[in-house]
Amino acid sequence: MIDVLRETLIAPSILSADFGRLEEDVVKVMDAGARLIHVDVMDGHFVPNITIGPPVVAALAPLVHGRGGALDVHLMIEHPERYVAQFAQAGADALTVHQEACPHLHRVLGLIRESGAAAGVALNPATPLETLTEARRHCDLVLVMSVNPGFGGQSFIATSTDKLRTARAFLPAEVALEVDGGVSLDNVAALVAAGANLLVAGSSVFAGGDPGRRFADLAAAIAG
Ligand code: DX5
Ligand code: ZN
Repeated sequence: MIDVLRETLIAPSILSADFGRLEEDVVKVMDAGARLIHVDVMDGHFVPNITIGPPVVAALAPLVHGRGGALDVHLMIEHPERYVAQFAQAGADALTVHQEACPHLHRVLGLIRESGAAAGVALNPATPLETLTEARRHCDLVLVMSVNPGFGGQSFIATSTDKLRTARAFLPAEVALEVDGGVSLDNVAALVAAGANLLVAGSSVFAGGDPGRRFADLAAAIAG
């Protein structure tokens, strides 16, 4: 597994970045210290929204890798197994699929690892942790969604903090625990205290103000 997933850090989500100035926005957060860039892929089927695909990952990869960072790709799509190879070739370092989209989850996780990427599983807010009783031994990362996936800027679902605490106890120590949705200065320290080590932040980094400064403020809130 890539080392960065073992650290406790803020992963800026480019979903809320300025797509016309994507490179500029990524440089700003990386200059401020970001090392894990979160990329939200949506297909208009698994979630209502449509966002970006492998070409954007490929375009970002030299920039992110060149600065010592990694690409954390969150697939909110049906049939993710069809796209694993493409995203891995494009430069994804971690690939996370949704439990709800994968009747053959064990096979998909194996495919991801064979592609060379770290294998993640995401759970929607209404999906119990127990659905991962077997898969927890076959993945590198579990992503607890703290909003219903599909859009940036939604409010954090308060019960997610308890879910993270339970998840940390339920998962093997070597499995990273990521939280995604509504992460802000108001809750980030509590989420780390609950056991999350990867904190995805979209609108709290990119929607308003200087992204570098906003990233640095979030990073400072979880430091030490
Ligand atoms: C939502 C995405 C998130 C999104 C989070 O479906 O998976 O990664 O960018 O955005 P914020 O941080 O604004 O809730
Ligand atoms: Zn995401």
